[in-house]
Amino acid sequence: MGAATPAAGSPPTKHPRHLLDLAGWTAEQVHALFDTSDVMAQVMTRTIKKVPALQGFTVGTLFFEDSTRTRLSFERAARAQSADVISFAAGGSSVSKGESLKDTLKTIDAMKSDLYVVRHPAAGAPLQLTRWTDAAIVNAGDGRRAHPTQALLDAYTFRTSFPGYAGFEGVELAIVGDVAHSRVARSNVELWTKLGARVRLCGPRTLLPDELGERPGVTLTHRVEEAVEGAHAVMALRLQTERMAGGLLPSLAEVRERYQVNRARMRLAHPDALVMHPGPMNRDVEIEGVLADDPRSVVERQVANGVPVRMAVLYTLLVGSR
Ligand code: NCD
Repeated sequence: MGAATPAAGSPPTKHPRHLLDLAGWTAEQVHALFDTSDVMAQVMTRTIKKVPALQGFTVGTLFFEDSTRTRLSFERAARAQSADVISFAAGGSSVSKGESLKDTLKTIDAMKSDLYVVRHPAAGAPLQLTRWTDAAIVNAGDGRRAHPTQALLDAYTFRTSFPGYAGFEGVELAIVGDVAHSRVARSNVELWTKLGARVRLCGPRTLLPDELGERPGVTLTHRVEEAVEGAHAVMALRLQTERMAGGLLPSLAEVRERYQVNRARMRLAHPDALVMHPGPMNRDVEIEGVLADDPRSVVERQVANGVPVRMAVLYTLLVGSR
């Protein structure tokens, strides 16, 4: 691609300036972003995995919550396109001395980034930041509300991994585990239903909010066998104990016995079904350890695809819509 625009992936219509969630995106825009991701994925197969597409731009990563994959992946995505990166993590910063979100942003913003990638425990924090800076904002997870790039890389992994892929129409995605506290589940529901798939959400009663079942294309079940039967992809979610108020926590033994995504249950799924997990995984709790390493598992591919998908997001927001 060189400095050239990835023509195949140019969006058909103007994108929003920020990526806070996927509500404003059309299926057509998502597919265009996936086409751009294909171009970026090709770059990542080269000996020299770097293009000058974002030379002169600065991307700031602002993480007010822990992260391994998401942060590394955004930084890799920025650098692979020759952008400069400044990174901020709340641990070890003046946030622990009581500096407010606004003052923290103002401090970092004085160093002039063109786009900020933000993760924050409070839902709506990335939207708030759009009011305090002229830079573009990409949400890398806000509370339990949204994690749009994770959903994009999950759907992109399905598109590039499911044998004989013919679109999302008629596809059944099962998401099993702690749905209540999961921004990954909410963003995947938003995205996969938009693309024409149906989503089955499954978990214990306390971790499966009724309102998520009100959306067209979504069904709720407390029986994992029902969720998995005939599904084309099965995604396991960990218990997000750090977001739980007292009393909600089901026992690990219950999760393991009644909701673990394992080989026995995967026999009920579509024969080519993919096993997915956004990470971090708790092996032998929500997902059987050996299944995570099985050829049906695309967990590592999800991580790998995070880079080209986030390259496409950064490119589209900074350059693609100009
Ligand atoms: C998820 C997150 O932080 O929302 N992880 C990720 O970004 N890959 C899921 C989780 O924390 O369980």
